[in-house]
Amino acid sequence: MSPSVITVETKENVSQNLVIQPPASGLSLQGRIQIPGDKSISHRALMLGAIAQGQTQIKGLLLGEDPCSTASCFQAMGAEISELNSELVTVTGISLGNLQEPADVLNAGNSGTTMRLMLGLLASHPGRFFTVTGDSSLRSRPMSRVVKPLQQMGAQIWGRQGTSLAPLAISGQALKPIHYHSPIASAQVKSCILLAGLLTEGQTTVTEPALSRDHSERMLRTFGAKLDIDPQTNSVTITGPAQLVGQTVVVPGDISSAAFWLVAGAIVPNSDLVIENVGVNSTRTGILEALAMMGADIQLLNEREVAGEPVADLRVRSGRLQSCTIAGEIIPRLIDEIPILAVAAVFAAGTTVIKDAAELRVKESDRIAVMAQQLNKMGAKVTELPDGMEITGGTPLVATDLDSYTDHRIAMSLAIAALVATGKTTIHRAEAASVSYPNFISTLQSVISH
Ligand code: S3P
Repeated sequence: MSPSVITVETKENVSQNLVIQPPASGLSLQGRIQIPGDKSISHRALMLGAIAQGQTQIKGLLLGEDPCSTASCFQAMGAEISELNSELVTVTGISLGNLQEPADVLNAGNSGTTMRLMLGLLASHPGRFFTVTGDSSLRSRPMSRVVKPLQQMGAQIWGRQGTSLAPLAISGQALKPIHYHSPIASAQVKSCILLAGLLTEGQTTVTEPALSRDHSERMLRTFGAKLDIDPQTNSVTITGPAQLVGQTVVVPGDISSAAFWLVAGAIVPNSDLVIENVGVNSTRTGILEALAMMGADIQLLNEREVAGEPVADLRVRSGRLQSCTIAGEIIPRLIDEIPILAVAAVFAAGTTVIKDAAELRVKESDRIAVMAQQLNKMGAKVTELPDGMEITGGTPLVATDLDSYTDHRIAMSLAIAALVATGKTTIHRAEAASVSYPNFISTLQSVISH
């Protein structure tokens, strides 16, 4: 523990400033890290457990704010969910088609996954009326990407700005199957339509321009749904109505959370970290490929399969990095890791180009604008592109006042940058990290060595 390097100032009992001041002699990161459960898999385990028949046991659930939002929405619709913890959560499902009409607005908080996936289920429950909302970030994020295909299936949904923004009102209907060609590679869009297809008689197909994370497909199959996957065309077909039966789900560690340590271990001199039990599903390992292109020293140890998902321990040791270009089909496989990859690029020789990532502008914050602005405040050379960034590495970072813009991944990325900046960095609104990584700060404290 190194309390002198890291301090947390709590403001008005809500907001937190994270203050990071590395000693003038520098620091290194050493040790073994257990990361929290995968956020995407945690949401899906709670949702499928809630709508399946019988009991689902979830081991290793992420206790972040986002899965808590999913749990409370499905509890409000009749599912029984035991107290959330990372050991064992039991969900008693209500069987497909039986979501009860909640007496109040469903609140998805900060979680795009909760809102978008849930919409597919709500829209396909005939005779029931639902309203959904979220926090100010989620209420500004585009919902038309799921509303439009659902409307093609016959869904009745109303909302602000041409049904693009939450709060949304949904009058559940018996839907008709479609073949949807999604203009974007988005697991949230794909999963929303597949979930709508669960109760829809016939074959519902989604084709996406590049493969996005496939956790829904894997878990739907495990729970008993009939899915046909065509890898040639990135298409998935679900045949409804389906029957889902509760299962045991073992949630692997979240590679998106591991990413902060992978980059930290790579850029903080003399570091050596092992991150245990990381999910290495190939639809998520773009970060490993990108860091390999940059020359990072990362080893996959003890590769194994746990409950249908590949898992490994990852060892990272610091070393020199070089620039690379990150574009095309790899983007959906590392979309959430681009803020922390931008930090890696600041320490890489040459100019790193990130393209084809316009989606970053509609995440929890505009991650292109915010990362460029915040890293440039520290003295980095980052130029915004409409769909990415150009980052010229090699300029030393200088500590200053920074802001998370209430985006969890920005808060944590800036904290890692602060470890290698000269002076005292203050990250405002750092409490955002708890959306996906409640123990981030204590884990950081535990691996600092100086
Ligand atoms: C997620 C999919 C991704 C990702 C998000 C979680 C999911 O969003 O950014 O954090 O669990 O399906 P998109 O599918 O919209 O790119």
